[in-house]
Amino acid sequence: MKITIIGTGYVGLVTGACLAELGNDVFCLDVDQRKIDLLNNGGIPIHEPGLEEVVARNRAAGRLQFSTDVAASVAHGDVQFIAVGTPPDEDGSADLQYVLAAARNIGRHMTGFKVVVDKSTVPVGTGDRVKAALQEELAARGAHASFSVVSNPEFLKEGAAVEDFMRPDRIVIGHDSTAEGQKAAAMMKKLYAPFNRNHERTFWMDVRSAEFTKYAANSMLATRISFMNELANLADRVGVDIEAVRHGIGSDPRIGHSFLYAGAGYGGSCFPKDVQALERTARQYDQDLLILRAVEAVNDKQKLVLGQKVIRRFGEDLGGQHFAVWGLAFKPNTDDMREAPSRVLLRQLIDAGATVAVYDPVAMAEARRVLALDLTPDQLARVRFAASPMDALAGAEALVIVTEWKAFRSPDFERIRAALKQAVIFDGRNLFEPEVMAEAAFEYHGIGRSILTRT
Ligand code: UDX
Repeated sequence: MKITIIGTGYVGLVTGACLAELGNDVFCLDVDQRKIDLLNNGGIPIHEPGLEEVVARNRAAGRLQFSTDVAASVAHGDVQFIAVGTPPDEDGSADLQYVLAAARNIGRHMTGFKVVVDKSTVPVGTGDRVKAALQEELAARGAHASFSVVSNPEFLKEGAAVEDFMRPDRIVIGHDSTAEGQKAAAMMKKLYAPFNRNHERTFWMDVRSAEFTKYAANSMLATRISFMNELANLADRVGVDIEAVRHGIGSDPRIGHSFLYAGAGYGGSCFPKDVQALERTARQYDQDLLILRAVEAVNDKQKLVLGQKVIRRFGEDLGGQHFAVWGLAFKPNTDDMREAPSRVLLRQLIDAGATVAVYDPVAMAEARRVLALDLTPDQLARVRFAASPMDALAGAEALVIVTEWKAFRSPDFERIRAALKQAVIFDGRNLFEPEVMAEAAFEYHGIGRSILTRT
């Protein structure tokens, strides 16, 4: 099928590359000429495992092209995916200007029938606004082409996006019941047929329910994390091991094991933004989502917990003290630092007067970019960007771990001890077993596990 993808961010690029991999003829549009040039020169703008290969293979096969040409992009795809950003407004609601601009462009140039798919995470009712924008543009030039707006939210995880796209656990498609809506549904069915061969993974619903499903999924996952983080902080006080509790409750199939890991708080481009946006939507309908407000507040507090543990141990004034930080990305296998807990931790340490050496397997360049925004030049001068995990440790009082990269899971503890001034580890992701750390004579501070490290 002929497909257009508008926006070559995480979602758009992965969707475009993977749909090309399935044999479709895909045209990716972006307004950012530099990004398009990079993609046309064989580069990719993000770190996402497996993506570079899929892009290269499909470009070479002529099934995947990148361009800034709006008219050509509208002419190309029978199905037009809108996968542009929906950044939060000042008030936390999703900013739809890019989504609506994309819709207007389609309306301005379309001639025949188009399926317009909202792939971006958009608030309930956006489908109607996209439809209105298209109708206005058609009316403005007296054109009569027909179309249907479909909602097809993405559930890709950063760091596993290609894998998630190729083996989806579900495909959610919202469409309306008009003749155009039925035609659009039939085209979506054909497009996703390769994923439904063995068993049906598609859930068909109305547009609003599909839009809502995405927010409900992310809000539920964020809720589980904040719930566990809050219990972990209590566990620290009352002498309970949160990891034992996690196993104890996760084995109940009604609860399940996923997303119950206490840690340094959730970050990324989705959870913080989507929780806020759903709260905003509720407020527009005079409802206060008490649970989600708490989820957000708990997470904001949780990002401070690791730094507070350091300060409790080393003092309010960290002047003259140096710390090593492992992990900067908001989670492993990505260089994304949006809303990353590491940013909050670094601020805390630096505000308290410390110097730090930081290391991340892939997010170093991104870290230089975002820390230059977060910190003043004087503060930034107190950050050393280390060349390796071991390099970061030299002369540090303690090691603080913020992201659970695989490369940090089985380190050489003897070398860590030799490099650190004091054998102290703050583990914001509970990577190690407190008993093992005690045997290795480390002072170990996890999240919700202090019962096992009390001396
Ligand atoms: C999420 C959803 O999982 C995905 O379906 C949606 O499409 C986009 O948002 P992503 O933002 O890539 O994906 O990250 P995810 O793997 O879900 O992790 C989010 C955050 O939660 C990370 O900061 C992670 O460290 C944290 N987390 C996750 C925990 O603190 N504890 C857990 O148990 C799980």
